[in-house]
Amino acid sequence: MTHKLQAFRGALVDFVGDPNELGDNACRSFADGVLVVRDGRVENIGPAHELLAQLPPEVNVIDYRGRLILPGFVDTHIHYAQTDMIGSYGEQLLAWLENYTFPTERAFEDPDHAREVAGFFVEELLRNGTTTAMVFATVHRNSVDAIFEAAATRDLCLVAGKVMMDRNCPQFLRDTPASSYEDGSALIERWHGKGRLRYAVTPRFAPTSSDAQLTMAARLLDEHPGVHLQSHAAENPQEVRWVAELFPWSRSYLDVYDRFGLLRERAVFAHCIHLDEADRRRLAASGAAASFCATSNLFLGSGLFDVQRAAEAGMRVGIGTDVGAGTSFSMLRTLDECYKVTQLAGQRLSPLRAFYLATLGGARSLYLDDTIGNFEAGKYADFVVLDPQATPLLARRMAHMQRLADRLFLLLTLGDDRAVAATYVAGRAVHARAGSGARDSAHRGQNCLQMP
Ligand code: GUN
Ligand code: ZN
Repeated sequence: MTHKLQAFRGALVDFVGDPNELGDNACRSFADGVLVVRDGRVENIGPAHELLAQLPPEVNVIDYRGRLILPGFVDTHIHYAQTDMIGSYGEQLLAWLENYTFPTERAFEDPDHAREVAGFFVEELLRNGTTTAMVFATVHRNSVDAIFEAAATRDLCLVAGKVMMDRNCPQFLRDTPASSYEDGSALIERWHGKGRLRYAVTPRFAPTSSDAQLTMAARLLDEHPGVHLQSHAAENPQEVRWVAELFPWSRSYLDVYDRFGLLRERAVFAHCIHLDEADRRRLAASGAAASFCATSNLFLGSGLFDVQRAAEAGMRVGIGTDVGAGTSFSMLRTLDECYKVTQLAGQRLSPLRAFYLATLGGARSLYLDDTIGNFEAGKYADFVVLDPQATPLLARRMAHMQRLADRLFLLLTLGDDRAVAATYVAGRAVHARAGSGARDSAHRGQNCLQMP
């Protein structure tokens, strides 16, 4: 049996834990490092001067000196069907859903349309260095097939599910408790655990599911251990009031999901802005995660996610772009807005924690950190190569930055898809920015990183 051995040289950065708990020790970095990959999985990482000497001479070392090699970004909340409605003007959540989202999602009853958008969507993830995402499809069963097919052809680790929605939405997007259960069961059978794909039971949000449907969602989860759940929670004040009217017995919005048995491990709730302390403690204890979707929350005027209280309560938190309420596929752009949200709340999001949340924190939120999220041996070699000199302004500012934390902060402040030189999935190049491939080290000058 032959084993494919690869080596990538550059400034390596990953996280072994949460900087809130481990401080700078959470971050592992090698200013001149080598990532050794065997058969698509990480075999080893370490300083170049040690690892290069151990490599068999026939191994071609791909030279990314002058660039940063990080684990691929993990986007914990995004809607592929909303790719074509980013930047829809002027509404807050409920009117935005009615006027823009539902008409856009209707088009996914056409399988050809779904396939075309899914192909573009996956390419856009990779162009932005995102190698794993938790994805809403639409209410149409074929929309799930389209996104999983697009992910499977690129060997992506992707979690997705069919939207369940049986009330308070247009007739043309409505399913029933029984049909959503049957479709969910069939899709789990077809896709969950196939290669790197995972299924997520996907009730859109409490207002669009009847009691009977929320019960069916829990049943699907109970019958299929290991399957995920994704939904929205406590995003917008008007929505929160509506949920209180629809479920008058509930203590809070989150309590609705709790009563139906949906707060559990592998569940991700987007937004979680309007929570109280009891909600936060309950979310943390349940093992469910919140997805912090800063560009969406600012775009729809939804409110400010409380990063500090979430951490104090021990909640799992990941980062979500939430396209198409979110305004960018780029996790760098999203982290920048996350930082600004914390500033408005008088809090801090350190650059190390930001990049932790976008990588290992996301993997932990999805309970996929046994296979992705950092460069531990045995994990998939899913990684992104960032170019600190991608634009004239980045290059100019970067020239004055030596500390790793400062360089990461500048990348999230000024970076976007232009800063993504390359993206790899299981050791295979799936995106290379034009004019930004691996270069001869002689052209890249000195390595330019110091430890944090
Ligand atoms: N709540 C229910 N559906 C949606 C959606 O599609 N986007 C956002 N941001 N919030 C939602
Ligand atoms: Zn969403």
